[in-house]
Amino acid sequence: MRYIRMRDLEVSRIGLGAMGMSHGYTGSGTDEAESIRTVHRALELGVTLIDTAEIYGLYTNEELLGRALKGRRDQVVLATKFGLVSHAGEGAWNLDSGPANIRTAVEGSLKRLGTDHIDLYYQHRVDPNTPIEETAGAVAELIAEGKVRAFGLSEAGPDTIRRAHAVQPVTAVQSEYSLWTRGIEDRVLPVLRELNIGLVPFSPLGRGFLTGTVRSTDQFDASDFRRDNPRFTGENFQRNLAIADEVQALAAQVGATPAQVALAWLLAQGDDIAPIPGTKHVSRVEENTAADAITLTAEQIDRLSSLPPAAGDTHTEAQALMLER
Ligand SMILES: NC(=O)c1ccc[n+]([C@@H]2O[C@H](COP(=O)([O-])OP(=O)(O)OC[C@H]3O[C@@H](n4cnc5c(N)ncnc54)[C@H](OP(=O)(O)O)[C@@H]3O)[C@@H](O)[C@H]2O)c1
Repeated sequence: MRYIRMRDLEVSRIGLGAMGMSHGYTGSGTDEAESIRTVHRALELGVTLIDTAEIYGLYTNEELLGRALKGRRDQVVLATKFGLVSHAGEGAWNLDSGPANIRTAVEGSLKRLGTDHIDLYYQHRVDPNTPIEETAGAVAELIAEGKVRAFGLSEAGPDTIRRAHAVQPVTAVQSEYSLWTRGIEDRVLPVLRELNIGLVPFSPLGRGFLTGTVRSTDQFDASDFRRDNPRFTGENFQRNLAIADEVQALAAQVGATPAQVALAWLLAQGDDIAPIPGTKHVSRVEENTAADAITLTAEQIDRLSSLPPAAGDTHTEAQALMLER
């Protein structure tokens, strides 16, 4: 595994997204033992960046990681997120990045994760009711107290990134980025490079779609959030299958799996990028992590970069309201 530096943090350039172990996908929350084995296997393979959030499974994903990382905390660059639970207000799925809410959130996350510090603490979504300077200032205080090592943002736009960075240097921005979601390339990525901020692409496998294993929405259980996602519904789903087929064809040529090719394409975009593919299975963490050793030719990268755009938005209308675009 190769490692990259994002300011003062060194991270494996392929991380592990833990969300699906507790929340969002078919089978989430059903096999804790396999989820914990997946975390341990990732560490054995040299993965250091592990990603969670207080909102995932509402607290249960952090609790799971707390159990999984017992005795192994020092091997991990542990990332979690605040701002989608308003602790003194309306509760879960309500934006609140006010300083008082961050204070409450951090204590809960530290306790659940079984640690005295969070390595990378992200604002999960920009809160239009709190100036970003106040949020950055609150995280700066936590850094000064040693409870947090580095500050991150998620799905923030260029102006917010600049304003936050002026108060407390931002180590990483975590936003959706993959072969079929490239919206950050024009306006966000240039700002990250100008300010020397790392990029952590989330949903780098297109929520599983780019792996070619999602062929029908009948595969999803009732709680799977892809059931409502525009790219996974109706005609869009059928049209998008052509994209997955193209990735599969190129993977066959490379002698790799589609998941590995999707990750290798992201890694080829720069050495300031560390995707966090999500899985709750040992075999898949092995497959995904092996993408580190795959080098695509310029022609293969071009072919992947020229895939047709996805049909449908990557978020539901309600979710899209929380994004800065
Ligand atoms: N900041 C944010 O707002 C935000 C939003 C979404 C996600 N995230 C973070 O990003 C991480 C990754 O994103 P994601 O989990 O949404 O999407 P993803 O990594 O693009 O895809 C995850 C899906 O792909 C499947 N999968 C994984 N590896 C596979 C393989 N090799 N072959 C076939 N299927 C495979 C997983 O199933 P199994 O688990 O069953 O293997 C799961 O259904 C999350 O875990 C979370 O930590 C952050």
